[in-house]
Amino acid sequence: VQRADLVIVANRLPVDRVVEADGSTTWRRSPGGLVSALSPVMNTQEGAWIGWPGDVGEDLAPFENEGMTLVPVSMSAEEYEEYYEGFSNATLWPLYHDLVAKPEFHREWWDSYVAVNRRFAEAAAAVAAEHAMVWIQDYQLQLVPALLRDLRPDLRIGFFLHIPFPPAELFSQLPWRRELLQGLLGADLVGFQLPGAAQNFIRLVRERVGHKTHRDSVYLPDGRMVTAKAFPISIDTAGFTELARSEPVQARAKQIREDLGNPRRIFLGIDRLDYTKGIYARLRAFSELIHDGHFTVEDATFVQVASPSRERVDQYRILRDDIDRLVGHINGDLGRLGRPAISYLNASFPREEMAALYVASDIMVVTPFRDGMNLVAKEYVACRYDDDGALVLSEFAGAAAELKQAYLVNPYDINGMKAQMLEAYRAEEKELAKRMRAMRKTIVENDVANWANNFLADLAAARPGHEKQV
Ligand code: G6P
Repeated sequence: VQRADLVIVANRLPVDRVVEADGSTTWRRSPGGLVSALSPVMNTQEGAWIGWPGDVGEDLAPFENEGMTLVPVSMSAEEYEEYYEGFSNATLWPLYHDLVAKPEFHREWWDSYVAVNRRFAEAAAAVAAEHAMVWIQDYQLQLVPALLRDLRPDLRIGFFLHIPFPPAELFSQLPWRRELLQGLLGADLVGFQLPGAAQNFIRLVRERVGHKTHRDSVYLPDGRMVTAKAFPISIDTAGFTELARSEPVQARAKQIREDLGNPRRIFLGIDRLDYTKGIYARLRAFSELIHDGHFTVEDATFVQVASPSRERVDQYRILRDDIDRLVGHINGDLGRLGRPAISYLNASFPREEMAALYVASDIMVVTPFRDGMNLVAKEYVACRYDDDGALVLSEFAGAAAELKQAYLVNPYDINGMKAQMLEAYRAEEKELAKRMRAMRKTIVENDVANWANNFLADLAAARPGHEKQV
């Protein structure tokens, strides 16, 4: 493989390997916010992306894809269970999301996490050119910065956490808290979604590792400096707007409205099927609005798309059953022939179909209990080029720090959520336009190219690790 000057290291490659029924394999875009954010950045740069190809199996050779080199890192079935489903998604994920579910601590899971992180670090060390920039992504790979620095002290190493970084009181539950902090400190620059997360990290480093800190900097005993800062991630705003305006998406949006019986208002939710997203609470709030007589199923309908995610992890199975039951219950109680209150789709869709759903809907409802950023909220705003439509947004999503003109809600407060959903339902065009215009301005000014350029500019300015401070 040709050595690269910019290397992305992420748990997933931007494409997943899919084995078809006839035994042939194809590649499909990977799920989640990380891949949607980074793909447009990397498509315009020559570089390498190191990641897992999405299934368990034999080693695959590196290959070219849309101008970059993809380097697959393989995982055994046991590692998949312990490193991915276990430590990443049943320990770190719930712990970092405010204990929305109870995290499990298992020593074997941690051992796998260390082993797989080492494999990623070795792959990065092999691919990076001399003095290259290596940008490591997300909670699955928090040990890679330090492991990689040991192997390649010449590199500039950046790390970005796409999910929240919890307050010290929560993080301190982790039996391996010190090791994780030390893993991250291998980077020159550690990026977070929000300033509060960077402050949580700095405080933990001071209290648990004992390093000197000042504002956003950590001073290591060997003279190296690590910076921790917020870089709120964004989307390809122009790309989404263009897609929304395109003829096929417009036609499809019209078709969707017709298929739904042309109600006055369409509510929309699009999420990975994850317990952090507040899907249950929002569907209840909507159904109560009908039940209370504020509108009928002829007036308004709710489209909920939930893409399957981490399906073998217990908490996700339970959630799936809970939502299935709730939707059945609501439609059984409130629906009429040909008019369900909720159209529920347990599936994932390509970008074009998502854009058509955004264009077709009047009220986007994004109500996570905790979310690093939430790019769906930003994608909806990008698609509303006529400044119409309403966004109902949880104050616990990172996006709320920027999209202040949304109808902000506390997802734990069902009555409060009902009130805001109703206000959005009744709002006049002028009011909606005022809010949407302001939100669109925000995401036009900070799109994903900006986000990446800001991070990489700061990383380029960081002192390479091997130069001692003078
Ligand atoms: C979130 C995480 C990503 C992850 C994605 C999909 O966006 O921040 O790191 O890739 O969810 O989850 P999955 O477990 O399927 O990769």
